Amino acid sequence: MALDQRSRTRLAESTAEGAAALRAASSREPDAAVRNPDYLAARFLAPRLSLTTFAKLPRSRRIVRAVAERRVPGSYWFEVARTRHMDDVVRGEVAAGVGQLVLLGAGYDSRAYRMPELEGVRVFEVDHPITSALKRKRLEAVFGSVPAHVAYVEVDFTRDDLGERLAAAGYDSGRPALFVLSGVAPYLPEEAVRETLGWVGRQAPGSSILFDYLWSDAFDDPEPYYGLRQLLRRVAAMGEELRSGIPRGRTREYLAELGLEVESDLGAQDAERYLTASDGRVIGRPYGFGGIAHARVRAR
Ligand SMILES: C[S@@+](CC[C@H](N)C(=O)[O-])C[C@H]1O[C@@H](n2cnc3c(N)ncnc32)[C@H](O)[C@@H]1O
Repeated sequence: MALDQRSRTRLAESTAEGAAALRAASSREPDAAVRNPDYLAARFLAPRLSLTTFAKLPRSRRIVRAVAERRVPGSYWFEVARTRHMDDVVRGEVAAGVGQLVLLGAGYDSRAYRMPELEGVRVFEVDHPITSALKRKRLEAVFGSVPAHVAYVEVDFTRDDLGERLAAAGYDSGRPALFVLSGVAPYLPEEAVRETLGWVGRQAPGSSILFDYLWSDAFDDPEPYYGLRQLLRRVAAMGEELRSGIPRGRTREYLAELGLEVESDLGAQDAERYLTASDGRVIGRPYGFGGIAHARVRAR
């Protein structure tokens, strides 16, 4: 679908904002055991009349949970599990000595501003030019200026050379890096996903990528999958579509072809460990038609 500049801006805003709104709302969960750690998310949300407004206001954030779970069952709890799991992997990689963090399709990711573990780590926020510009505007509003410790790199994954743009921003391809691709792969054409993952597969030994993906075969028959029919409808209503995924049960093979070896692959069942309340009850069910893979560059 051809979109004019205004629609593209709205679209970039709504997908990145939608994820941030879920984090803002879930960062107010009363039980710390299932709380989203992204306490900055609400500050990135623009003040306008939509669900994100409710996510911005502390008293009404509970409404967001109810509305989000009715619109797309599993979305709220998936966001809690995804943020917490990805934070854990980021911490683990930094503790193991990785000195570069590249957030691909960063949106309103706040890790560079809220994780003390990242002090001394070079952070690159890569995003589509439209979203990247919006993010910098919001950062100025939140912090008074655009933080100097992060490099903002404008890249369209369907057109631009990621390696060239990153190198121009100071990325060192001779040193290991952790790449994070959160909430992005399903929106990209299959070719762009393969190219991006394949490029990561050729980076310095020790490098790895953490990303969430959907099962491509689930798109053909969404009915058995919790939340998928509603997600497809919601994404279409925003003028977007889910374009790519990995065949169910083939993640290892898919990534091996691209030079990457799976270290972990979190499914809906495993996500329960992030959704278990202090009293031992599993409090929420995330949608379950994909996974969150962490894969490392294979020894050559
Ligand atoms: C749903 S948001 C996810 C944002 C963030 N990573 C998160 O987890 O909240 C999708 C992100 O992918 C980016 N994106 C989508 N298509 C892109 C493209 N062709 N090139 C670069 N970025 C793209 C959007 O700009 C947006 O920031």
